[in-house]
Amino acid sequence: MTRDALAWIDDELEALEKRGLRRRLSTRESPQGAASIILDGRSYANFSSNDYLGLASDSLNAALAAALSKTGWGSGASPLVTGRATLHARLEQAIAAFEGAQAALLFSTGYAANVGAVAALAGKEDAVFSDAKNHASLIDGCRLSGAAVFVYPHADIAALAALLRDHGAFRRRLIVTDSLFSMDGDIAPLPELAALAEHYNAMLLVDEAHATGVFGTHGRGLCEQYGVEDQVHVRVGTLSKALGSLGGFVVGSRSLIEWLANRARSYVFSTAPPEAMAAAALEALRIVREEPQRRHHLLERAAWLRDELRREGWNVGRSESQIIPLMIGAPQTTMQLAGALRQRGLLVPGIRPPSVPEGESLLRISLSYAHSAKSLEQLLTALRELRNNFERMPP
Ligand SMILES: Cc1ncc(COP(=O)(O)O)c(C=O)c1O
Repeated sequence: MTRDALAWIDDELEALEKRGLRRRLSTRESPQGAASIILDGRSYANFSSNDYLGLASDSLNAALAAALSKTGWGSGASPLVTGRATLHARLEQAIAAFEGAQAALLFSTGYAANVGAVAALAGKEDAVFSDAKNHASLIDGCRLSGAAVFVYPHADIAALAALLRDHGAFRRRLIVTDSLFSMDGDIAPLPELAALAEHYNAMLLVDEAHATGVFGTHGRGLCEQYGVEDQVHVRVGTLSKALGSLGGFVVGSRSLIEWLANRARSYVFSTAPPEAMAAAALEALRIVREEPQRRHHLLERAAWLRDELRREGWNVGRSESQIIPLMIGAPQTTMQLAGALRQRGLLVPGIRPPSVPEGESLLRISLSYAHSAKSLEQLLTALRELRNNFERMPP
């Protein structure tokens, strides 16, 4: 009998297992909560979620339920057909007003926003310049665009400047970067990137996925914090992280938004998200506007925890945010540590390739406004206990 045509998959999975890279699905059996989450039957203090402002579990429910009874659930069609409804339009206006931009376009996810925007802005005759640590959705957008892609070393402005100088013979050029890097918690050199884009007459797209709702005087993100919003042509944000909801958006000029509504394939060829979801996001935006103490408290706590961890000898890399990595290196050691933390009732995910480069596996501590001082102390105590064992663990 011939070998099953899919037998190679089991071989590949086995190879992943041997390299400590096989992932397994787990099932959450409780709402997303910082203080406690039930995963596969066990309760943990949760340091794994992007629910930075503590909105995901119950703060948006009432708005969602009230809208749902009027709108129904499914949207039935792509936005350009009949899927875009009143609350979608209202949310786009609210996002544009919040972001101080001319217009906004709502996508079903942040992933779709990035893939769609990059591929709509660059084509075969163009070049994209992409930070080596950009999120997979930007990378996939670069690949889909068919443009020449130049990956510059992480946050290396001199290297990017040299690439822009040496590769001028393209129809259009686009620089793409995360503002807050999702695994390392560090920040892109936004003012320098904006200056380079201007100097070389390139477009600049900044993905604020993890910064929306957390950074900036009004919570708009790091472009606001660094005062470069007007120099960034395309700003992407998510509703799925600090805003505790689901969806992604792009803000910018009216013509940019109209172009994306025509040409971003992840927008055009995909069903609009349920209308009621927009009510949840509108409520989240209201909370971001009216309760700045959530983000202030979060960032103060994060600064405190980073200092404590550094003092105890952990390498937290260049984190300047609520995302705090513990740099470990080998995937096996990383997963051993994650397992030992789980045994102590603490959920801190181990991050391995392909989410990070080979040799850069890490534990990703993700803080939320909803974490209590007690759970941070609990985390520090557990890490202190593990440190001695960890120093004896094989690399
Ligand atoms: C930097 C970055 N951009 C975009 C996304 C995608 O956003 P979403 O989860 O809403 O699809 C993520 C999600 O992990 C991310 O980390």
